[in-house]
Amino acid sequence: MDQNSQAVSKVTVPVILDRKLRGEKITCLTAYDYPTARLVDEAGIDMILVGDSLAQTVLGYNSTVPVTVEEMLHHLRAARRGIRRALLIVDLPYGAYHVSDEQALACSVRFLKEAGAEAVKFEGGRKRAGLVRRLVEAEIPVLGHIGLTPQSIHTMGGYRVQGRTLDSASELLADAEALEEAGAFAVVLEGIPRELAAIITRRLRIPTIGIGAGPDCDGQVLVFHDLVGLSFAPRARFVRSYADLAETLRQAFLNFRTDVAEGRYPDDHESYHWSAALREQFEKEMSRPA
Ligand code: KIV
Repeated sequence: MDQNSQAVSKVTVPVILDRKLRGEKITCLTAYDYPTARLVDEAGIDMILVGDSLAQTVLGYNSTVPVTVEEMLHHLRAARRGIRRALLIVDLPYGAYHVSDEQALACSVRFLKEAGAEAVKFEGGRKRAGLVRRLVEAEIPVLGHIGLTPQSIHTMGGYRVQGRTLDSASELLADAEALEEAGAFAVVLEGIPRELAAIITRRLRIPTIGIGAGPDCDGQVLVFHDLVGLSFAPRARFVRSYADLAETLRQAFLNFRTDVAEGRYPDDHESYHWSAALREQFEKEMSRPA
């Protein structure tokens, strides 16, 4: 029982691994602050990712490259306060694991100790296998991420679907297998053809979590702002918007502006009042000659 006496079946890494054995789908959404993390958690989503996509969705950078460890920590702490059930995963931002494995370990330890992360994610396949091993040895669960890896925007030359040739598909399969072998508990497959995602999913014992990788993955992840229609970027083919919050918010702001301008907000019910006795007393005071 938790502090509010409601049973909460906490999602852990073993629970996620077990889902694949049972053939039960896994859900994951990004969240970067207290209210969204809380709503996502209360909806029963299994994993919450404080993704470095927050660079674009909430900080207004034009790629994920500039976001810093301190910025990630700030959002991770806020999300942590809203979560009771979901597994909380955080991205290592660009530059936090590219200098050395020791640097990556130090950053991951901060995310766990100072902000309550339960796992870390970073981009790359075979070239990150050693780092995955190092972190797993330090009791830090790792979620891999291959395919379209946004931190490689400059080497990819843009956000492009990967694995569209036989060679690149074989490379991605080898990457996925290397991450599993190194001890990752699951792998995000981003922006790859569904046929390749299906093959990787069949070949791995650990779950695959797809984003733009078709329906055959063991789970699906979406960016919160895409799911609720709160993004300014053109919508990618794989995004399904379940709400149009941008339009709802725009309308709310316009309505507020008009109501204030036309004196309709606030009305009497939205105002505080004196008691009748106080009003009478005040009126008496005011009518007394000076
Ligand atoms: O940063 C992020 O939101 C991600 C997801 C797209 C998987 O890495």
